[in-house]
Amino acid sequence: MTAHPFPVLIDRESLLVRIRELARAIAADYEDEPPLLVVVIEGARTFAHELARLLPGQPPLFEIRAASYGESTTSSGQVDVAGGDGLPCAGKQVLLLEDIVDTGRTIARLREWFLARGASGVRVASLLSKPSRRVVPVAVDYLGFEIDDCFVIGFGMDVGGRYRELPEVLVFEQSGRG
Ligand code: IMP
Ligand code: MG
Repeated sequence: MTAHPFPVLIDRESLLVRIRELARAIAADYEDEPPLLVVVIEGARTFAHELARLLPGQPPLFEIRAASYGESTTSSGQVDVAGGDGLPCAGKQVLLLEDIVDTGRTIARLREWFLARGASGVRVASLLSKPSRRVVPVAVDYLGFEIDDCFVIGFGMDVGGRYRELPEVLVFEQSGRG
C-alpha cells in the first residue's frame, strides 16, 4: 500500500486530528447560520469530505473548479473559474474549502467571483498553506498546517492526476516550482 518513495510530511492521524479542530471552530463560528460550503475541486475533495462529516447537520458540499494558467510563462497568473454557475450564493456566507494556498491567486480570484455574484461574505478553510510562496496576500480563516516551499501529494492532492489516493501528505519535490 505504501509502495512509493515519497517521505511523509503530515501523517494521517495528525491530519484527522487537525481537521476535527477546524470543524469545531467552524461549527462554533457559524452557529447561527451555516455557510455555503464550496469545495475547490479537485484537490480539496478529501479534506472537504472529512471536514463536512464533522459539521452539524451534515451540510451539502458544492463544488467549483479553478484553473491557473501562465504561472511559468507569464506573470499574469490568470485563474479561470468554471462550474459555479448554479451555486446559490447570493446573500450567503461562502466558506471556500481548499487543499492548499500557494501563490494565493486562486483564493483571491474565487473571493472576487463570489462577491461579484452577491455572496454576503467569503471565508477560507485550507488544509495547507505555503506562506513563503505567496504572491497575492489572502486571509486563510481556518488553516490546518503551514508548510515550507515543497510540492506535496496525497490526501486528495495530485501531480498530473496521480497520487490523490495516498492517505497522508507526502513530499513529491523538496524545492518549490518557479
Ligand atoms: P495558488 O493559486 O497558487 O494559491 O494555487 C492553488 C492551487 O495550486 C491549489 O489549490 C492546488 O490545487 C495547487 N497546488 C499548489 N501547491 C500544490 C502542491 O504542493 N501540491 C499539489 N497541488 C498544489
Ligand atoms: Mg486546490
